Amino acid sequence: MSEVTSRIAAGYEFTGTALRLGAVVHDGAADPAAQVRIPLAMLNRHGLIAGATGTGKTKTLQLIAEQLSEQGVAVFAADVKGDLSGLATPGDSNERIAARSAEVGDSWQPSSYPTEFFTLGDAPDGIPLRATMTSFGPVLLSKVLGLNETQESSLGLMFHWADQAGLPLLDLKDLRAVITFLTSDTGKPELKALGGVSTATAGVILRELVGLENDGADVFFGEPEFDTADLMRTTEDGRGVISCLELAGVQNRPTLFSTFLMWVLADLFDVLPEIGDADKPKLVFFLDEAHLLFHAASDAFLQAVAQTVRLIRSKGVGVFFVTQNPTDLPDEVLGQLGNRIQHGLRAFTPDDADALRKTVRTYPSTEDYDLEEALTALGIGEAIVTVMSERGAPTPVAWTRLPAPRSRMAPSDDAVRQQAVTESALHARYAEAVDRDSAYERLAARVNAPAPVRDPKQRRVPTREDRAEPAQETLVTQILDSGAFRSFLRSAGSALGRSMFGTRRRR
Ligand SMILES: Nc1ncnc2c1ncn2[C@@H]1O[C@H](COP(=O)(O)OP(=O)(O)OP(=O)(O)O)[C@@H](O)[C@H]1O
Ligand SMILES: [Mg+2]
Repeated sequence: MSEVTSRIAAGYEFTGTALRLGAVVHDGAADPAAQVRIPLAMLNRHGLIAGATGTGKTKTLQLIAEQLSEQGVAVFAADVKGDLSGLATPGDSNERIAARSAEVGDSWQPSSYPTEFFTLGDAPDGIPLRATMTSFGPVLLSKVLGLNETQESSLGLMFHWADQAGLPLLDLKDLRAVITFLTSDTGKPELKALGGVSTATAGVILRELVGLENDGADVFFGEPEFDTADLMRTTEDGRGVISCLELAGVQNRPTLFSTFLMWVLADLFDVLPEIGDADKPKLVFFLDEAHLLFHAASDAFLQAVAQTVRLIRSKGVGVFFVTQNPTDLPDEVLGQLGNRIQHGLRAFTPDDADALRKTVRTYPSTEDYDLEEALTALGIGEAIVTVMSERGAPTPVAWTRLPAPRSRMAPSDDAVRQQAVTESALHARYAEAVDRDSAYERLAARVNAPAPVRDPKQRRVPTREDRAEPAQETLVTQILDSGAFRSFLRSAGSALGRSMFGTRRRR
């Protein structure tokens, strides 16, 4: 060990369990005795894996996911290009891998990992993830739709109206039906009674909703609703289950991805207890191609993501963003990422050069490397690393050569994936969509009826979504008219309220 590599490696000696990230590189050579690690207890301080295309981001994700699984930590990974499915298949040994293992002091063995495949929508290559409109809630939906405060409180009132009128909001067409009804000639008196909701506002919301549907997000809303506890499973032999969300067909539908993600994080936030600092996280998210998430996102959405990321840490959930340039992420998010694995950057254009300098500034200072130069000279599967030490301070900047993942570096065969899906314990619960009688069907019936139906004897059978019994019309009107209720809705929209995004707790 050289003086430099041993000094750097000393900053990566931890008392608790730590995951391997590779060997320190200095003067062009990796020192297998100088190891770079990340403390397992610090994975909830979130992270960034960045780098130009083909530099090794996804393999780094794979490497960390594998070790988390070995440590009994569940992983959720957005698999945008389909290459993460290799986790389900042992890697192929070859000379290149043998050489790399020797260079970085790794004892490479092929291994596969317990992997579940999910999809958004009805694609057969995964178990579909869905949530109902009701559980999604008006506040979170407003963020996704980019609604302003007035529109958000109007949406809240319309959700409430549907609830009181006994019209379950399960899928997108249910909500669309409710708003369409409220703006129709028959429904207008009801809209008026709601107070504070203008036909124009309802029209705007309806248009945004149609846009969301056109982006393909309609497939996400519906039943059976996914129980997020299913993301935190371990196998009988104590390994964490890796949930891969297969998004190969969804690249051009980023709204669907962000909609789902916000719901999952908000729901986990509701469900999980505060655990403060623990030995290891409960769940770690990896969001590959994270720029998709922020592409054309509203300020409200960015703030919601930043807030979620900040708060979910103490619930034992870590979030790793994987993207080409750190500048793809909003500053509020970037500032919260304690662990950084920066693969090579290109400096072809003036914009590249700007991004490069910006990236350098986010690193602790180092005498060991010229970072601007290093970042453009990194080899494939090498990165500039700094993580959170167990004491919560940044570790020394380390040029690191990473070991190869132990599972396959290419997609798993279709047969392997298919088998994982059909043999999954979750398949029977979630595979088939259910479109039960809800707002859309009931309003369609009502519109065809001669007069507004408000017969208490025709009340629906209560479902688990129901909290309040449908009230008498006069009472509803009184409640909705009261200033107290409207200010309640407003505060639910701006403050944390009963839950961060007003998603409805189901358990
Ligand atoms: N740790 C590693 N060990 C061995 N080979 C690696 C490693 N990291 C990357 N590679 C090689 O580099 C290739 C590209 O890596 P990877 O797919 O992770 O890049 P990426 O940064 O995710 O690219 P993109 O932005 O295009 O998704 C891999 O297929 C593999 O051959
Ligand atoms: Mg990749």
